[in-house]
Amino acid sequence: MPAVPERLLVVDDTPTALEILSRTLTACGYAVTSSASVAEAVRALEAGPFDLVLTDYRMPGASGMDLVRHVRENLPGTGVVMVTGYGSIQGAVSAVKLGADEYLAKPFTDDELEACVRRALEAAAARRAAGRLASAVVGPSRGIVGGSAAMRAVRALIERAARSTATVLITGESGTGKELAARAIHYSGARAAAAFVAVNVAAIPEPLAESELFGYVRGAFTGALETRAGFFQAADGGTLFLDEVGGMPPGMQAKLLRALQDREVTMVGARRATRVDVRVISATNQDLATLVGRGAFREDLYYRLNVLAIELPPLRDRGDDIFELAGHFLRQYAREHGREPPRLTRRALAALRRHVWPGNVRELANLVQRLVVMTEEPEIDAADLPSLLRFAAASGRGAARTLAEVEAEHVLAVLAGAGGNRTRAAEILGIDRKTLGQKLRRIQGGPDHG
Ligand SMILES: Nc1ncnc2c1ncn2[C@@H]1O[C@H](COP(=O)(O)OP(=O)(O)OP(=O)(O)O)[C@@H](O)[C@H]1O
Ligand SMILES: [Mg+2]
Repeated sequence: MPAVPERLLVVDDTPTALEILSRTLTACGYAVTSSASVAEAVRALEAGPFDLVLTDYRMPGASGMDLVRHVRENLPGTGVVMVTGYGSIQGAVSAVKLGADEYLAKPFTDDELEACVRRALEAAAARRAAGRLASAVVGPSRGIVGGSAAMRAVRALIERAARSTATVLITGESGTGKELAARAIHYSGARAAAAFVAVNVAAIPEPLAESELFGYVRGAFTGALETRAGFFQAADGGTLFLDEVGGMPPGMQAKLLRALQDREVTMVGARRATRVDVRVISATNQDLATLVGRGAFREDLYYRLNVLAIELPPLRDRGDDIFELAGHFLRQYAREHGREPPRLTRRALAALRRHVWPGNVRELANLVQRLVVMTEEPEIDAADLPSLLRFAAASGRGAARTLAEVEAEHVLAVLAGAGGNRTRAAEILGIDRKTLGQKLRRIQGGPDHG
């Protein structure tokens, strides 16, 4: 199916930044128009439809914020990404509050840019769909690939979660799709038209936690020159996604618990609490129950977050989903690189099926992307895979193997036996976790990549 490239409008007053952004996004397969100011952008928006506007925050004259407001008021179906400078997270929060679909904090990598644009495009598409249909008609598993029994169960839970406003706790190993599931719940529920605000709570320094989450009023502390919203206010009416909750500092746990119990928040320096209507979805790849046992996570907060539990199975437990997912990513990345999707041979597929995938779906996506970029052949065979997977494919146990190959195979076998658990595998191998990580990186790198 010939895909029509999505149309992006990129706005930045710095010519080099504008040039780099538009070159990167063009390389991703988008049709990019660039504007050096908000005024120019508004004219461009009048001239033609765009799927997405990506704008810098600080610009002379009208700011990125004005542009967000303009787009939201006039073009509800167009996605908006706000790019903010280092340290202006509050600007990002305000932008989301005004209706930006995503924000991107500088500095960012090409991959982060691309992922952010893709998510914003999906959010805008979901909004258009929600406008066209009663939201229930759109399936809740949009974007989630895989029909295994394990994933069918997950879909059913996502569907149930989307129909309620109960607090949801999503668990699963790294890269299993926890954030994807959280977005699916938000965008197929009654809150789809409001904000989905994602916060990595483990990354917020404890002293800033309160003002970041709940905002502050002017004069609350030195430097509080104006009243600023926090993540809770930004997500009002929508969903607050608390990622990596297992890493939340203790003081923050107490404050979050209070906000969830009372359904209201007090801005730092404010005398009165205000009501917020926020649906909370949290995620972690840690075992919260264990953390509770160790006293590292509050038990009362655990029960409050864990009302509806969704556990994402590791990729190695999803059977043939791996083929469906590989096909999905092959098509996606091939489209982005303007080529026909390559085919995987039977041997290559077998190797994928046998690999343990400690990085789960993200590892698979990264691998497929690399294959699409690095090979021009229409067909990918087991020999084209990194050595980590080639070992999984090797059937004969020839004697002419190097020590490194034997070691790699043993390390992988132990890791597989430990269900992908690196700590356990390191214990069995009698090495520390860091050494195991180094070995895996070397194995995964393969001969082609050093
Ligand atoms: N079932 C799926 N179908 C399609 N894409 C998926 C699926 N699961 C995950 N992905 C993709 O894999 C990548 C990783 O997913 P996501 O970020 O949601 O994982 P995560 O569980 O939040 O990982 P982490 O614990 O590392 O934060 C994303 O690009 C996501 O779109
Ligand atoms: Mg995540």
